[in-house]
Amino acid sequence: MNVNEMKPAEPKKIWPQQLIDMKQRGEKIAMLTAYDALMARLLEQAGIDVLLVGDSLGMVLLGYATTLPVTLEDMIHHTRAVSRGARRALIVADMPFLSYQVSVPEAIRNAGRLMQEGANSVKIEGGRHMAETVARLVEVGIPVMGHLGLNPQSVNQTGGFRKQARTKEDARRLIEDAHALEQAGAYSIVLESIPEDLARDVTAELRIPTIGIGAGPDCDGQVLVCYDALGMTGDAAPSFAKRYAQLGAEIIASARRYAEEVREGGFPAQRRAS
Ligand code: KIV
Repeated sequence: MNVNEMKPAEPKKIWPQQLIDMKQRGEKIAMLTAYDALMARLLEQAGIDVLLVGDSLGMVLLGYATTLPVTLEDMIHHTRAVSRGARRALIVADMPFLSYQVSVPEAIRNAGRLMQEGANSVKIEGGRHMAETVARLVEVGIPVMGHLGLNPQSVNQTGGFRKQARTKEDARRLIEDAHALEQAGAYSIVLESIPEDLARDVTAELRIPTIGIGAGPDCDGQVLVCYDALGMTGDAAPSFAKRYAQLGAEIIASARRYAEEVREGGFPAQRRAS
């Protein structure tokens, strides 16, 4: 027997086109954020399809109040780490604030850096005004995921992290934006914090999959910030984020026990006299 036949089968890599195929087959897409190699490895073992190196890392990991201070270098650092931990999952890297809005050539150069460092795709915020940028990125071989509804990089304009597209006029504009992104070549769109019936309508109208966060159950997939889903962010987690564990409480209790044992001499255990 050839020894290679004894190796476990290599996990099959997920590419952007597969998300479109999943929508056509009616299979839901499971996406979570990951910011480092260890978490990427664990989430991939759990069968997560898409790992988003979100610029939310600025708020969750780096302690900023918004995502605006996150730099391209920050995103490259974390994208590299995630790509070292994951082999099967599709890796999507957020383009940070001002790395794609100034000009199309700058957007291509910056997206290209993220791709060179391990991303399989980039995500950018915004609708029709980003269509030309999306089209050019796709032309040069960079798959793009769009992001509509609450765009955290625009919180100063929208007045905080609140639900979007609540009027008929805003809902109509969001549907037009979604079509503009699809026509420009985006392979998927995140819909963040919009009414459930609007997310359902957008999902029904598009050929490409929608991935919801605070947008109800009818999107083609769902995404959460992994630390929200793991119960590590306490009150900072948005109300729609279901907690699948209480790791924050577990960490505090474990660290407290460790500190007590160190102080009382319980750890390390006493060496037995020989
Ligand atoms: O940065 C991020 O984590 C995101 C998700 C909220 C979709 O963009």
